[in-house]
Amino acid sequence: MNSAAVFRRLFFIVIFFAWTAGLFAAGTNSPRERLLLDFGWKFHLGDDWLNALRLDKAGASSGPASEKFSDNAWRPLDLPHDWAVELPFDKNSDTSHGFKPVGPGHPQNNVGWYRRTFELRKTDAGRRIWLQFDGAFRDTTVWVNGWLVKRHEGGYYPFREDITDIVHFGGKNAIAVKVDASKFEGWFYEGAGIYRHVWLEKTAPLAIAPDGIFVYSNFKNNVPSDRAEIKVETRLLNSLTNGVGTTVRCEIIAPDGKSVAKFTEAEEVKGATAKTVKLAAKVSRPVLWSPESPKLYKLITTIAVGGNVVDQKETEFGIRTFAFNATNGFLLNGKHYELQGTCNHQDMAGVGAALPDALQSFRVAKLKEFGCNAYRTSHNPPTPELLDACDHLGMIVMDESRLLGSDQENLRKWEDQIHRDRNHACVGIWSVANEEFSVEDSPQGGNVARTMQDFVKQLDPTRPVTYAAPEGDTFNGINGVIEVRGWNYHVGRDMDSYHARHPAQPEVGTEQASTVSTRGIYENDKSRGYVSAYDTNTTTWSTTAERWWSYFADRPWLSGGFVWTGFDYRGEPTPYAWPCVNSHFGILDTCGFPKDNFWYYQSWWTTNTVLHLLPHWNWPGKEGQELRVDALSNCEEVELFLNGRSLGKQAMKRNSKLTWQVKYAPGALSAIGFNGGRVAAETRVETTGDPASVRLTSDRSTINADGEDVSVFTVSVTDAQGRMVPVATNLVHFELAGPGKIIGVGNGDPSCHEPDTFAPQMPVTAIPVNNWRWQSAAVPAKGGLAPEYAGDFDDSAWNVLKPKTDANSGDQVLSEGQTAIFRAHFNVTDADLANPAVQIRFTSIDDHGWIYVNNQRAGESSDWATSPAFDIKKMLHAGDNVVAVGVLNEYGSGGLNPEVNVELVGKPVAVPWSRSVFNGLGQVIVQSTKEPGEINLTASADGVASATVTVHSLPCPPRPAVP
Ligand code: GAL
Repeated sequence: MNSAAVFRRLFFIVIFFAWTAGLFAAGTNSPRERLLLDFGWKFHLGDDWLNALRLDKAGASSGPASEKFSDNAWRPLDLPHDWAVELPFDKNSDTSHGFKPVGPGHPQNNVGWYRRTFELRKTDAGRRIWLQFDGAFRDTTVWVNGWLVKRHEGGYYPFREDITDIVHFGGKNAIAVKVDASKFEGWFYEGAGIYRHVWLEKTAPLAIAPDGIFVYSNFKNNVPSDRAEIKVETRLLNSLTNGVGTTVRCEIIAPDGKSVAKFTEAEEVKGATAKTVKLAAKVSRPVLWSPESPKLYKLITTIAVGGNVVDQKETEFGIRTFAFNATNGFLLNGKHYELQGTCNHQDMAGVGAALPDALQSFRVAKLKEFGCNAYRTSHNPPTPELLDACDHLGMIVMDESRLLGSDQENLRKWEDQIHRDRNHACVGIWSVANEEFSVEDSPQGGNVARTMQDFVKQLDPTRPVTYAAPEGDTFNGINGVIEVRGWNYHVGRDMDSYHARHPAQPEVGTEQASTVSTRGIYENDKSRGYVSAYDTNTTTWSTTAERWWSYFADRPWLSGGFVWTGFDYRGEPTPYAWPCVNSHFGILDTCGFPKDNFWYYQSWWTTNTVLHLLPHWNWPGKEGQELRVDALSNCEEVELFLNGRSLGKQAMKRNSKLTWQVKYAPGALSAIGFNGGRVAAETRVETTGDPASVRLTSDRSTINADGEDVSVFTVSVTDAQGRMVPVATNLVHFELAGPGKIIGVGNGDPSCHEPDTFAPQMPVTAIPVNNWRWQSAAVPAKGGLAPEYAGDFDDSAWNVLKPKTDANSGDQVLSEGQTAIFRAHFNVTDADLANPAVQIRFTSIDDHGWIYVNNQRAGESSDWATSPAFDIKKMLHAGDNVVAVGVLNEYGSGGLNPEVNVELVGKPVAVPWSRSVFNGLGQVIVQSTKEPGEINLTASADGVASATVTVHSLPCPPRPAVP
């Protein structure tokens, strides 16, 4: 080792101990800081810096990637963010992605840039600094301080980078992120942008590795008993060059808050390596996790070096067992348990793919209302906060990968997914892929699935593996090797014969139903894109709720299944196309409003007494005509009445529903449900009057003033008696007062083309820069100063640059290899300079341009096909200003297009929010700011009474975030 290396090592050892001792003295438990990096980003839509990425030289990337770039003209926003949801609908865009103009054919909308700066303290020196993205759609390039730090392909996987080497301690750091959404991965709406959280994490040089804790419980025969064996694996990362002796201390806290186990291991971690330390303990009389009782334990892992704490992490976990049995189906904690699941995409009315965490809980809670106890993350790894919601609210998860593949890159992603998600109590099974039509029957498909499955067994010995197979009685390829046979559709003979032929293979309904229905619609209407909500409409491959569920309920070995889908989502408007932009598969619409099948499932998936009638009873013009009336109920008998007259009592068969044909007369349709001959439930549907008022209700009356929490408001249009008018379509306007903001509106109408979001607009006033002159001149290489750039240089004898009217003017004046300088004067006032940003925008500089304003460098451009803009506010003064551009024309003819503007960019201006109700209902999603106080939302519509509702935003300790 040379003396420099010895010095370096000593330096780090000294820093390490001085620093940990400092923390210890300050009484900090964990030197780890995990900071949310969602607030305070700037955003620009458009691929205006084609050459930003430099692969020839390190740290030299340009445009927004450069730390010197000014993003003052960009729109401020907070993450998560999805720019696709902000775009207008476009008939010529992709049907399955919901007719949003993004993806192939829409280059102008496919690239988004995000920038943010952050400070690091001087005292952070010596720590490791990590930048982590939970997911962005789709291909992402990340720079820090001009250094390229990450190129990540794929819209659903997390990625992170240790950026310690290139950050400025005690100074400002600039992150630039380019997100390119030109390629799709799915056949459903996928959003665009940084739609999941971003984190900045600071750790000691010896610390728990990212996702480095694995905690699980073990029972003999995988059936819970009085003593659970708890196993913990802690991966430690030592970035020092010397070995370090460490102590790993674990403490387990029971759901009631009591400490129930403490155990320790001491290990030496060699320099510049990672090491996994394994520990075990016993927990007596464990409290088991289940969807009905989602009790969580907490593991506190503390790492100490020489008595000083250097890291500490808390990990929630659940004690429970999952198993799939070929005869008894799914077993939860050793007992048969029917999976009553739904498949879902991360997509919601108003916000698209960018769901604040509170909406994950909102959605999981909605699913639980009709008895859903399992969630398939189709067809990709979920956002971690979805799993948190499922852990806490009680929902078993089928955690699915995006793609089948045993290449290194796909296995690395699969590994990341498993490492990240395996501690979650809710995760019950891994799914290697969905419907891989091209390869599923081939031996190669089988090989790849086996490799992915074997990989799971190395990383997670506790959970089984499945594949969502769209096939019938077929045992080739993947089905022949997979642990649990998954069934996408094929209810009927195929399942029975497959089960008879492969009696030892457990099975599960990975994807079922795909029943299509529109909320509040009772007649198919192709031109408007609506499907009736009676449980009668299916596709060629799918079936009704009643058909699939009654078949599965009779066959315990099938383990239950997952409905396609819990919520409607953008795209896949099956069975229609334009004007329909949303799917119809949901039990709930895109807002979470129930369609009638909600009550079918609630009847047979919960122990509640359920009685629901459909359709609504507003049918003017249909008097005397027969209408179909269904009762969805789990009562033994149901009697139906029209205006008090009995239309007969019928007995309910298990897992079915009851139907009457009723001659329509306005008034009240009512029903009584009986159990054991006694009245168990009553319900009624009444013909309403015309719209008279708007009603607002919020799902929560208090939220946290943390800038993240949300309240979901239901907007309904009611008649004079306060009854929701089931055919109302009023356009409702919203105003918000207080410390909150509206982040999205929706109504569940699959054919609505009104905006879901009204992003603030950045006003731009253009001042044309005219009267350009030019002269052949030497242009300093690499953009150095030339005398002709000076403000007071006399260019009166130079050529006048003609406007771009023909091939010989404007940007065509230079021949191949020629260099020249172009100059022009423009005037700005003090008022102009009061704008947040003043930028100069060129139409084209061909090929290379170095831009100077009042003899100060504003930037450079190296792509004639873009229209570059540079923030020049700092270089300007009121009165006359001079812009000079040195141009090198490399190929063909070239020059500078004289259509140049100085753009005054104002502060973002809020745009008023509105949305029509659909069949009486609409939704407004309101997010808190960090200020506590009263948030008042007012909803008003022409000709009806308006409403105001208050939600209290309460002070709360903010989540640690980058300031
Ligand atoms: C399935 C597919 C889903 C969705 C569904 C619609 O085959 O896995 O992603 O497209 O069909 O019915």
